[in-house]
Amino acid sequence: MAETMLSVSNLIMPYFVTEGRGREEPIKSMPGIFRISVDNLLKDVKEARESGIKAILLFGVSGKKDLSGGEAYRKDGIVQKAVKAVKKSAKDIVVITDICLCGYTSHGHCGIVEGQVARVPPSPGGLRRTSKGQGHSIDNDKTLKILSKIALSHAEAGADLVAPSAMMDGQVRAIREALDKAGFSEVGILAYSAKYASNFYAPFREALDSAPQFGDRKSYQMDYRNSDEALREIREDIDEGADIVMVKPALSYLDVIYRAKEKFNVPLAAFNVSGEYAMVKVYCRDSGFGIRDTAADMGKKIVLEILTSIKRAGADLIITYHAKEVAEWMTT
Ligand code: PBG
Ligand code: ZN
Repeated sequence: MAETMLSVSNLIMPYFVTEGRGREEPIKSMPGIFRISVDNLLKDVKEARESGIKAILLFGVSGKKDLSGGEAYRKDGIVQKAVKAVKKSAKDIVVITDICLCGYTSHGHCGIVEGQVARVPPSPGGLRRTSKGQGHSIDNDKTLKILSKIALSHAEAGADLVAPSAMMDGQVRAIREALDKAGFSEVGILAYSAKYASNFYAPFREALDSAPQFGDRKSYQMDYRNSDEALREIREDIDEGADIVMVKPALSYLDVIYRAKEKFNVPLAAFNVSGEYAMVKVYCRDSGFGIRDTAADMGKKIVLEILTSIKRAGADLIITYHAKEVAEWMTT
């Protein structure tokens, strides 16, 4: 009589891909997750696929950052190479790529920063939208052009879906138009529609070395006090052509997931983010709870409880760093 059944086919496994061969660099704040080179990615994806994982999400680790993130759309950039290799070795794996600038810009912001970044001192309290000269601001429309180029380069490499995460206004429409014009109408868009300015992204920023060097992301990511706004953001992305919409993070936002599912009859994803993953790992690091469970048993139970609750709230798909381990528990 259980109402909610978590299935491996609901889960999407994220990967951090880095240049080189044979590399597997631990990410301190995310035990069990590594920055891996393409050869190791292929091995890991093969295992994941054997346990039933059907989709992966790729993030590129860039060693060459600059003001405008040009490395992100290079034909032989790390994500482009990884996509090609995965699609060649396992055609049926759905490959999704993250589309953003923060991993590729020297300042760590998700868009093009207006003004002389190198010479302007850090501005307290975040980026301001209009303050030329007295602070920094993001050039939304310039950023759209670069996001479109990145999406196109990923589509050319063979990505099945692109996932814009920069929270720039109009990013879904810009990418949809660019893809269609280039003949990639089959490539889908998983939109990070309601992405909050969250404290749960810190481990991810360690993984990608993408923390903003000044200010914060509050001028483009959402205020966690709002949920009506999330519905407006989702509505816009649906209108702009998103195939799947997303709420991110997941655990502190189950109400937003629920409202989104109630209101819109479209596929809905939730991102169980790095900080949520890290909390579980820390919670289960030792078995000193005075209970019968070992840390490993506790870990399994708590992960299943969390992921099932995200599904119960209304998510059809869950992006989670636990995906591969969950798939392995479910098949063994
Ligand atoms: C890039 C991006 C972020 C995440 C996914 N894409 C981080 C951010 O906005 O700083 C977060 C994922 C996670 O924490 O697991 N825009
Ligand atoms: Zn970003």
